[in-house]
Amino acid sequence: MRPVAPLLLCSLLCLHLLTIPPAAHSSRSPHDAASHRREGQPEPPSYARNATVYGASAALCPGCGAWAESLEFLYYHNLVRLARWELPLAWSPRMESYARWWAAQRRGDCALRHSFPEGQFALGENIFWGGAGGSSWRPGDAVQDWAAEGVDYSYAANACAPGRECAHYTQIVWRDTTSVGCARVVCDDGGVFMTCNYYPPGNVVGQRPY
Ligand SMILES: *[C@@H]1O[C@H](CO)[C@@H](O)[C@H](O)[C@H]1NC(C)=O
Repeated sequence: MRPVAPLLLCSLLCLHLLTIPPAAHSSRSPHDAASHRREGQPEPPSYARNATVYGASAALCPGCGAWAESLEFLYYHNLVRLARWELPLAWSPRMESYARWWAAQRRGDCALRHSFPEGQFALGENIFWGGAGGSSWRPGDAVQDWAAEGVDYSYAANACAPGRECAHYTQIVWRDTTSVGCARVVCDDGGVFMTCNYYPPGNVVGQRPY
């Protein structure tokens, strides 16, 4: 991925310059990019409130048209990363097939269980379970739930607040991770299981995420 990084950065910055009017860089106004959309262009889906992040994610998810859910997963990840000025993740069809395989295993029990035994993670992996509310749990719910752990993470100590969990957040913002693939399944009992896999995996012991 190294050689393409400057290109990604450029397309990201270029998009940023194109979509954010100079005078309105830090606040949303009714006159932002969305309202300047040319007629005939498809409207972004309702979850995509940030045109910059949506555009960058769509460009990094070339085959995603058929699976709108993929782009939704990617968009929410990149919202968190771009807020930290980190390069956006690209969608990985290989990670996606792995995640789909694991999600299919969970359809019957909806158990909040990792695909790797403890200490033997070959890929980064974040998992989510939604019970009550059933099939209404969306990719954004999972990613926002993971990202919310950020308040408990101390960069200075590179540690999580006692008794709290930060590893889902640190995986999302892990700088050396370049790609993600996820899957969402509505289980037989009506709950939802979601899983995302990351490459290269983050949360390397003794290293900071960024
Ligand atoms: C879109 O998200 C980026 C990254 O979080 C942020 O810098 C930018 O201000 C946002 N733009 C709008 C219009 O909200």
